Amino acid sequence: MKKLFIKTYGCQMNAYDSARMADLLAPLGFAGTEAPAGADMVILNTCHIRERATEKVYSELGRLRELKDEKAKSGGRMIVAVAGCTGQAEGEEIIARAPVVDLVVGPQSYHRLPEMIARIARGQGERVEADFPALEKFDSLPEAVSDTGVSAFLTVQEGCDKFCTFCVVPYTRGPEHSRAPEKILAEARLLSARGAREIVLLGQNVNAYRGTDAKGAAWSLARLIEKLAGIKEILRIRYTTSHPRDMGEDLIDAHAGVAKLMPFLHLPVQSGSDTILEAMNRRHSAADYRRLIDDIRDKRPDMAFSSDFIVGFPGESDPDFEATLQLVRDVGYAQCFSFKYSPRPGTPAAAQKKQVAESVKTARLEILQKLLLAQQDQANNAAIGLTLDVLFEKPGRRAGQIVGRTPYLQPVHVDAPLSLIGSIRPVHIEARTANSLKGRLA
Ligand code: 5AD
Ligand code: SF4
Repeated sequence: MKKLFIKTYGCQMNAYDSARMADLLAPLGFAGTEAPAGADMVILNTCHIRERATEKVYSELGRLRELKDEKAKSGGRMIVAVAGCTGQAEGEEIIARAPVVDLVVGPQSYHRLPEMIARIARGQGERVEADFPALEKFDSLPEAVSDTGVSAFLTVQEGCDKFCTFCVVPYTRGPEHSRAPEKILAEARLLSARGAREIVLLGQNVNAYRGTDAKGAAWSLARLIEKLAGIKEILRIRYTTSHPRDMGEDLIDAHAGVAKLMPFLHLPVQSGSDTILEAMNRRHSAADYRRLIDDIRDKRPDMAFSSDFIVGFPGESDPDFEATLQLVRDVGYAQCFSFKYSPRPGTPAAAQKKQVAESVKTARLEILQKLLLAQQDQANNAAIGLTLDVLFEKPGRRAGQIVGRTPYLQPVHVDAPLSLIGSIRPVHIEARTANSLKGRLA
């Protein structure tokens, strides 16, 4: 067996892609390994969303150079591949800047890895594949074989047509594309047969999902979720990431009507200021977003929300930032991600003159994160004393302990037998640590 080391950066879609790359290379004799030293093939599945993410890739490539030299000294060969969004965005530039790299492959063309590896072995041909081929990538991938775990990702939609002015995704992941519902259902059945009890439907714009079945009928995400809920072994369904503009009435209804659909929604708003939302090309106002949250809570009162925020977008004033804080106070989030704006080459916002000073970004991020953390604490404190259904996913760090999640995605540690992994049990929540809850079987 040859050793394959894959390092994954960035989002859950990359995690899914990494698993598929492992599946793709398994028939070629590659088996996964835990560290890059001595590996025959190293794949960095990269992220390009912020400058820091891209820098991490280059520093890792620096470290790989030594390992590759060591492998060569012992008469072996380490093939180094850069996959993912940095590969897509930078293409040839990566090889020019880091000659340790043998090949570069974008997120829509990694199904070509086997032929690329063969070409490398022969020492010929193109080393960069970064187009958006017409042939569906998923059609040329083998069935999922890697360990799925209790909670499994399933990509249903890729790409983005929204073109928010700060974001590289429409350029790195390409135009929106939805997989056929039959293929998704077949993959979900396979995952559940392998032990998955929760399916997390993934897409850059997952709620814009619009699949077409063999009869030519259009499927919304809500319809897909209803159908998935019919698979007996699947106990929970989640989806991420959603755009406020694509939150259809039927999807909101599904949160009330489909018991397996969890009451947690990641719905990024980015900013609470209409001026900034407009400059970001988000195509909705802060009031639209507030209304949407209210509509969802009307139908599903216990719904927990999370969001992404960007501070220091070009032109963001103190009142704009204050509007973001006010929106956070009004909504009350369960957990959030927040970032300093990072100018990305080729995106419209990067070219704007009114960039915000780094010190201002830092100060605003600190204020925002303090507020978000207080809200997260509040949400976790509110769980103490309740009895919540927990889906157990894996052993805990301490012997005798297992870890699962509440419907609201909070991790819970419980003293219970390993045999409960994969099942749902009511748990009485007794205490909390910084980021998780503790409880006992009810
Ligand atoms: N700078 C900072 N954050 C960004 N995001 C996307 N692009 C940028 C950028 N240029 C954030 C958004 C998005 C999340 C995945 O990353 O908040 O929702
Ligand atoms: Fe990026 Fe906006 Fe598309 Fe999300 S909706 S991936 S932030 S362009």
